[in-house]
Amino acid sequence: MGALFDFNILLIGFMGAGKSTVADYLKESYSMDVVEMDQIIARRQGMSISDIFEKYGEEFFRNLETELLIEMQSRSNVVISCGGGVPMRERNVKEMKKNGRVVLLTAEPETILERTKNDHGRPLLEGNKNVPYIAGLMEKRREKYEAAADIIVKTDGKSPKEICEEIMEKLKVQK
Ligand code: S3P
Repeated sequence: MGALFDFNILLIGFMGAGKSTVADYLKESYSMDVVEMDQIIARRQGMSISDIFEKYGEEFFRNLETELLIEMQSRSNVVISCGGGVPMRERNVKEMKKNGRVVLLTAEPETILERTKNDHGRPLLEGNKNVPYIAGLMEKRREKYEAAADIIVKTDGKSPKEICEEIMEKLKVQK
């Protein structure tokens, strides 16, 4: 089967919005390559995201994200699962748009809490696993998330299959 798209799909959204789950599903169902930004950054640095934040600080991590986005412009038909903070930088949004369609996945704070409560790999949520905190950070990010998005898909109560079908439908319409 040939490449589905001549662009990349960039999945953005809050921590726990389902980016990695959706990326895995697209990989299985549509044979697309997947780039997990967090995973690549952690592998290249030889340490977890939490350790990168602790040792070098958030700004250092954010610069690595920007560099990786630029690197990915030479690829196509790849699903890029972005860390939740990626769209906060204007520069990143510009870089994403050069070779990609940006798909925003959303979920209610309660859903995010449910999905992230047993995970300890997200430094921004450690000690903050409650609905008011999540809702507050989400609200601070909303405008930039929405401005970056080409399409928006709500994930609450939907299966990965339903979410992916919705993404594919909307992307085809856009194409
Ligand atoms: C972050 C989200 C995380 C990771 C880091 C910071 C954020 O990725 O990049 O902990 O600022 O929202 P996920 O969205 O994949 O959890």
